Amino acid sequence: MEFVTIESWPAPQLTDYRPALEAGNVLFFPTTPFRLPEESQDFLRNLNFSGGAIHKNVAYRPGADRVTGVEADSAQAKRLKSILRDYSRTVVEFTRALLPQYAPAWKLDYASFRPLEEQGRDLPLNKRNDLIHTDAFPTRPTNGDLILRVFTNIHPAKPREWVTTDPFRVIATRYARSAGLDRIASGGRLLNRSAHLLHSFGLPATPRSPYDRFMLRFHEYLKRNEEFQKNCAKYHFAFPPGSTWLTFTDVLPHSVHSGQHALEQTFIISRFSLANTENAPVSILESLCGRPLVESS
Ligand SMILES: [Fe+2]
Repeated sequence: MEFVTIESWPAPQLTDYRPALEAGNVLFFPTTPFRLPEESQDFLRNLNFSGGAIHKNVAYRPGADRVTGVEADSAQAKRLKSILRDYSRTVVEFTRALLPQYAPAWKLDYASFRPLEEQGRDLPLNKRNDLIHTDAFPTRPTNGDLILRVFTNIHPAKPREWVTTDPFRVIATRYARSAGLDRIASGGRLLNRSAHLLHSFGLPATPRSPYDRFMLRFHEYLKRNEEFQKNCAKYHFAFPPGSTWLTFTDVLPHSVHSGQHALEQTFIISRFSLANTENAPVSILESLCGRPLVESS
C-alpha cells in the first residue's frame, strides 16, 4: 500500500484519485487543504469532559443537524455544534472538489471529534482501536457500499500514529473463509427476513444484508485473530499535527496507536460510482463465495 501525498490544493490539474483510494491507499495532505479556524481548534482541545455534560464521543449528524454526546443546552454545547457543523460542511465541499465522481450518489454520514489520547485506552476488545481491523457500522449497514473517512489531526504537537496492512482483497482472500463467509452467504436471507419483520413491528432489529453481517463479523474476527495481528505485514505512518488524510476504512485494514484530538467526517460511497467496481469489498467477497451478498447483485 502507498501514501499518496498531495502537497498543494487546489491542484493545478484535476487528477482522478479514485483508483488509488479504491486499491486501499491513503490520500495524505501534509497541510490541511481547507479552512479550519485556529480558535475552533482551541475550543475543541480545551473542552471540559468532567461533569458528564459532554461525552467523550461527540458526533454531528449532518442530515438532522444534531450533535449527539452532548447533554447540556449550554453556550458551550451550541458552540460545539456550530464548529462541528462548519467542519462537516467544509469537508463535504472539499471532498466534492477532490472526488467529484463520488458526490452525486454518496450518503453523508456522521462527523466526529475524538478528544481522547489513543495510547493506553482501556477498552473491550471489540472497541479497541489499536488492533488492526476493517470498519463496519453495527447501526448503519451499507448494503455493499463503501466507508470513506476524512481525518484531520488538530493536536498542536503530537502526530496520530497508524499501523495498516495489505488491503481488503489480500486479507479477505486469506481469512474470509475461516471468518465464516460461506456460512453467512448461504444462511443469509432467512435471518434478514426475520429482522425486517421485527423491524416492521417496531422492535429493535437492524435488517442487514449477508454482506453487512459478514463485515461486522470480519471486524471482530480480525481483532480476535492473534496470528493475524502478530504476523501480518505492517505499514507505519505518523500523521503530523495540522495534516488531513482520507481512505476507505473498510478497504484498508488499520489501527490507531497514539494521538489525540482528531476530527473526522464519514461518507458512504455508492459502489456503482467506483472507478473499479471489482475492488468493492462486496465484489471481492461475492467472487470468493460465488453467491450474491446484497439484494441488487
Ligand atoms: Fe476503524
